[in-house]
Amino acid sequence: METMAIRRGNPWRQLAAPQVAPSLLASDFTRLGEQIGILTAAGAEVLHVDVMDGHFVPNLSMGPPVVKSIRACTVLPLDVHIMVTDPACYIERFAEVGADSITFHVEAAQEPHRLIDRLHELGLGAGICLRPGTPAKAIAEVAREVDIVLVMTVEPGYGGQEFMAAMLDKVEAVRGMLDAGQRLEVDGGIDRHSGLLCAKRGADVFVAGSHILGQRDIAAAFGAMKQAVANHVGRPTENQ
Ligand code: DX5
Ligand code: ZN
Repeated sequence: METMAIRRGNPWRQLAAPQVAPSLLASDFTRLGEQIGILTAAGAEVLHVDVMDGHFVPNLSMGPPVVKSIRACTVLPLDVHIMVTDPACYIERFAEVGADSITFHVEAAQEPHRLIDRLHELGLGAGICLRPGTPAKAIAEVAREVDIVLVMTVEPGYGGQEFMAAMLDKVEAVRGMLDAGQRLEVDGGIDRHSGLLCAKRGADVFVAGSHILGQRDIAAAFGAMKQAVANHVGRPTENQ
């Protein structure tokens, strides 16, 4: 098997848009390495990893040991979404075990500027995330500092929920706050149809769990999703 060096550094400065980021939360954890292999062969260029602390969200998921194991079995960049009450306590730890980009919640961060600076000092991508009830203006002061903004299109905490179409206006509002080089990610209930709706409003990174890893043919589901959003990224257009 060909060996590839792990490409480290801020992935959002290296990857072309659009990106479909499979959420490993929906994987079969007894076959995690194998399923990452299938996604890689299908063309995935980034993997989304959901960290939940049972406090900021009412669920628990993966912690540093699991991220370390994921890091050991893939060269793809890891887009780590931390749904935790105190992100400042965890950034270093997830950086150590192999995160390439860390996205924290604006609702949880006491000092978002400091967290963003620290992520950049560590050479990582820096992202900020908004829950559905948080307005776009909540990130106004830091929007230009981050590499990626994540607009949740479900309440964070669980995979397999229904896409909230009411978030589309926020996607467009956030896109209006960003430069073309900054990424706008959507997460929650994303399938080919909702992904396309988000793409038309300016999203260019599409997290999908159940609609990729929950499908029988993971590679085909990834390919269909990528195809659906491929030609529709960029700023919102008038006729959408
Ligand atoms: C939810 C997580 C998502 C989740 C998405 O809190 O942030 O990344 O895995 O799952 P689906 O795509 O099934 O809605
Ligand atoms: Zn997520």
